[in-house]
Amino acid sequence: MKRVAILISGSGSNMAALARDMTGDHPARPVLVVSNEPGAGGLEKAADLGIETAILDHRQFRGDRAGFESRLNDVLQAHSLDIICLAGFMRILTSQFIDRWAGRILNIHPSLLPKYPGLNTHARAIEAGDREAGCTVHQVTADLDAGPILGQARVPIYPDDTRASLAARVLEQEHLLYPAVLRAFASGSESLVHLPAPGETPINAELGD
Ligand code: GRF
Repeated sequence: MKRVAILISGSGSNMAALARDMTGDHPARPVLVVSNEPGAGGLEKAADLGIETAILDHRQFRGDRAGFESRLNDVLQAHSLDIICLAGFMRILTSQFIDRWAGRILNIHPSLLPKYPGLNTHARAIEAGDREAGCTVHQVTADLDAGPILGQARVPIYPDDTRASLAARVLEQEHLLYPAVLRAFASGSESLVHLPAPGETPINAELGD
């Protein structure tokens, strides 16, 4: 059974979606949730799901990134992990940290990478007049939001979309994509995950949201 840690900074809705999927014949289980934000809503969600939590307030390291990552690594090493999932984790990890866990760290990013790495992805897609947006699960490498892509989910952008309405539509898909990718990744599958699945139409496209 693969042991998974999930790193969060905020509400933890992706963490909860991952945790809820790791049951039954799923080859992995969540064993730890770590937040760099003491007040992250995801900490309560994790506790409600019966998952051990840890808080590493990055402010206590006052810019000492190596110190923060060393402490983070100690916490993670103590849990004999197989996979680390970043889920709304808003700290940049250095190559020193990533090299130690290479090939075992996943992240979800709210754009169709390689388009729009970094922040404010939804506003940028709307601004650019794109017809579609989405999210990407990828392996984490030292290059921000640039590691090998493991899966993507696409949604339409409507003319009256705001960054909030688009973010909500993408977030729905994140909660489907990330669990599907983690299940495949933990099973050792190399196949890419694409949503909607071939032949499926995005439900919101028909309903017009
Ligand atoms: C998601 O939109 C994710 O794509 C981005 O931050 C948000 C995390 O939300 N990285 P949550 O904390 O999982 O609810």
